[in-house]
Amino acid sequence: MPIERNLPATDTSLPVLGVLISGRGSNLRALMTAIDEGRLRARIGVVISNRPDAAGLAHASSAGVPAVVIDHKAFGGRADFEDALVARLGEAGVQVVCLAGFMRILSPVFLERFGGPVLNVHPSLLPSFVGVDAQRQAWEHGVKVAGVTVHLVTPELDAGPIVAQAAVPVLDDDTPETLAARILVEEHRIYPAAVALVAAGGWRIEGRRFVRGR
Ligand code: GAR
Repeated sequence: MPIERNLPATDTSLPVLGVLISGRGSNLRALMTAIDEGRLRARIGVVISNRPDAAGLAHASSAGVPAVVIDHKAFGGRADFEDALVARLGEAGVQVVCLAGFMRILSPVFLERFGGPVLNVHPSLLPSFVGVDAQRQAWEHGVKVAGVTVHLVTPELDAGPIVAQAAVPVLDDDTPETLAARILVEEHRIYPAAVALVAAGGWRIEGRRFVRGR
């Protein structure tokens, strides 16, 4: 992606996103494409990977987005790792954190200290199949409908208010891999849309429910 096409990144009036990754980075790429195409009015202030070998780092760098490694293994414990995350997000002026395949659990202290909305994309129809390998969990359980959820992150794992969901069929000849690929198409469609909704503001939480309107 040519840097000069990434014009919104220079517009300081846009909400600033921080994208946290651990691997492939296809959801990061979907967010960058949505920004490029004007479907997501925001700019990415920083991409942070907790793994030095994350392929997603290259997507960010090639688009001129600052990409840094904060390796959790380099810290004595979770508190120090999260201190470093909060500091880097603060330096970049991040207002909304987007977890995009970020495979570390964030503590209540992180959520409190960051203070803004933290979004996650999870490859199941929550509240079913929390945690790792959700697509395989759904396949093994034998559900006939699977999908993806975008939710606000709260201290309880994969349990925060739901912003958006999309369903896909589970076919008789699916494998966990073919099911995951079908879900991923929907992840790339709904995550940028949900981030746009949250970054634009004009929403509230009622009980467990994410509701549009003030
Ligand atoms: C995606 O399928 C995402 O939903 C999942 O990891 C993958 C990351 O892919 N996240 C979780 O399972 C979080 N619990 P990506 O690096 O290509 O975006």
